Amino acid sequence: MNVILLGPPGAGKGTQAKILEDKLGYKQLSTGDMLRSAIVAGSDIGVKAKAIMDRGDLVSDDVIIGIVSERLDKPDVIKGVVFDGFPRTPAQADALDKMLASKGQKLNAVIEMKVDDEALVSRIVGRYSCATCGQGYHDELAKPKVAGVCDVCSGTVFNRRPDDNEKTVRDRLGVYNRQTAPLVAYYHRKGNLHVIDGMAEIAKVTSAMTSILNQVKG
Ligand code: AP5
Repeated sequence: MNVILLGPPGAGKGTQAKILEDKLGYKQLSTGDMLRSAIVAGSDIGVKAKAIMDRGDLVSDDVIIGIVSERLDKPDVIKGVVFDGFPRTPAQADALDKMLASKGQKLNAVIEMKVDDEALVSRIVGRYSCATCGQGYHDELAKPKVAGVCDVCSGTVFNRRPDDNEKTVRDRLGVYNRQTAPLVAYYHRKGNLHVIDGMAEIAKVTSAMTSILNQVKG
């Protein structure tokens, strides 16, 4: 099962991809996480990507297609992939079709998460995560049970992404509308687009996604 979660920054792609991985065993493939790991590792890709990501622009198609192609060669994706933040341009969508076809696979579903722009800004600006285990939190929407202590690993150091400030979030939304939103029509024409309400509670969004996946599995 290969599924794309399509939606603007803060739509909940990462949240749902992780839940689907844990529940159903499909691997989350987040190009944003892969780039952030490259930055931490100090690799050539990371050094080049950092400034681009900090201002909310897109990293070049060649770099992204290269890292996704390498990732899809790993054996742990055999059961399927939840694409989180990829593809983001028509060139990436075209490359994904070719990568999957070359492995005798196909895209089973594209799920567009419909959300409200102002809610996205507040979701992202309040977001932070545990520096030790990566568990996500939010200043208002999802606080740890004990202030300053991670519920999962008891870590006390937390990180905020450098691109999670209001100005960059609004720039990222503009980039999404100009460069990624045209993929909605692309997948609609191909007949595998499903649209869900991304403003619903997290559990309801998961349930809507799970029923789509059950339906396309047949
Ligand atoms: P990336 O890391 O992909 O960021 P993004 O697309 O901007 O998405 P986010 O991670 O901000 O949001 P999300 O939709 O995953 O939401 P989340 O689940 O975290 O990309 C970062 C950068 O890398 C890009 O700007 C670009 O520079 C580069 N890049 C990455 N991929 C690329 C590509 N393919 N091509 C070129 N460049 C690329 O949720 C957000 C918050 O909301 C959380 O606090 C969460 O708890 C909360 N929340 C989630 N769901 C709900 C809900 N239903 N109700 C209430 N709160 C919710």
